[in-house]
Amino acid sequence: MSYFLGLDISTTGSKALLIDANGAVAGVAASPHTLQTPQPLWSEQNPREWWQAATDCIRHVLAENGVSGSDVAAVGLTGQMHGLVLLDAQGEVLRPAILWNDQRTQAQCNEIHRRLGRERFIQITGNVALTGFTAPKILWVKENEPDLYSRVAQVLLPKDYVRYRLTDVCAMDKADGAGTVLLDLRARNWSDEVLTALEIPHAWMPPLYEGPEITGVLTPEAAAATGLLVGTPVMAGGGDQAAQAVGVGAVEPGVVALTVGTSGVVFATTPTALIEPQGRLHAFCHAVPGLWHFMGVMLSAAGSLQWYRDTLAPQMSFTELLEEAASIPPGSEGLQFLPYLSGERTPHPDPLARGAWVGLTLRHTRGHLTRALLEGVSFGLKDSFTLIKEAGLGQIRQVRASGGGTKGALWRKILASVLETELVTLNTTEGAAYGAALLAAVGAGHWPDVPTACAAAIQITGSVQPDPVQVEAYTHTYPIYRGLYPALRATFATM
Ligand code: XUL
Repeated sequence: MSYFLGLDISTTGSKALLIDANGAVAGVAASPHTLQTPQPLWSEQNPREWWQAATDCIRHVLAENGVSGSDVAAVGLTGQMHGLVLLDAQGEVLRPAILWNDQRTQAQCNEIHRRLGRERFIQITGNVALTGFTAPKILWVKENEPDLYSRVAQVLLPKDYVRYRLTDVCAMDKADGAGTVLLDLRARNWSDEVLTALEIPHAWMPPLYEGPEITGVLTPEAAAATGLLVGTPVMAGGGDQAAQAVGVGAVEPGVVALTVGTSGVVFATTPTALIEPQGRLHAFCHAVPGLWHFMGVMLSAAGSLQWYRDTLAPQMSFTELLEEAASIPPGSEGLQFLPYLSGERTPHPDPLARGAWVGLTLRHTRGHLTRALLEGVSFGLKDSFTLIKEAGLGQIRQVRASGGGTKGALWRKILASVLETELVTLNTTEGAAYGAALLAAVGAGHWPDVPTACAAAIQITGSVQPDPVQVEAYTHTYPIYRGLYPALRATFATM
């Protein structure tokens, strides 16, 4: 038994990743999910599709790497956070899951703040109620689908539905649990005050576990569906951002994770349940036992670049686009890009915020559009980085960069220059699934704790320093970016 399996139930697909006893990746397999947007602002998925994709990719990763189920010592789970899965008393799925990027619940967010008081809600949960989070989605179903609501017996998050199918046990890790905003953040447990105020029965909420704890073992049906052994332990794992942080070794205060994927995240471990008084940063439990974290989330980071390429330059590769942008001077000769293509969370929690290029002239070329986009996303990440620096955490010793957006040298240099900090890159690039596999290995006793596992498996492979010329240019253009959202907010809302 020398492998550990990390399973990531993300928005785009399920991914199964095997690591060996040294923490080296021994195999990866993925299987896609479809996404439904039945109405504007809605975003849903069918939980049964996750199960299908999860079993597919587990079978594939075993078969393609010649690993037998009996060689897998433990499974760790991770996945997209905040998605609402509702089960009836027989464990049947009641409706499509309402996902993290669904924006239908602004009225329910306002109602949550009205019932508890905004400040009290932040004090308990560490967060404001945002449309993406789980609690307002429960209220939405109650208001809009009362017959269905009357049959609810269990609330789960996406990866925890897959856990239920693997083990027949309803359970959740504390990091993902905190993202429901139904937790008493300090107590690392459900808040009776919040559940009572929102009239959500406590019995609907599953027991909560620390990331490396065992939540259940594989059933005979799940063993037959996956090729794993009956009785294989399934550890709690963590929501994708906490597991991603484990996967890059951001597991102690002072080490910040910067992830430029579809979304962009700045993640900082906190030793206690620190709260940003205005709720501008998310404050959740970490997947490392007894630790918490702050997080700033930008909804369209590398997702902005993907949209741009697919929509405006489908014939070009990312490399070609970035080569054009590299010849444009920093500051893009007065052109600015606002990356709020899916609305925004940090620092502007506004589902109606929109994307824009501002300052176009006849002089601007495609290279300017591309460079302005890279700079605008970097400025948005600086907003989160600055909030984290000002949140009283003490010195930031190291920023660990990961995600597709950090693969190219140009964007890495722009990010280091905008943030005015050194960025380091790592040997691990598999993100949340990798973190989930490490959590499984710690739970199985292979390493004594999460920091030891990270130190054994994760190495720094490169470093990018800020460029003084770019730093100087961005000192002038970042304040202009800062002024654009306040100037356009009302217009976005009218649109
Ligand atoms: C985090 C968040 C996203 C989702 C999807 O708060 O909403 O990272 O977890 O990946």
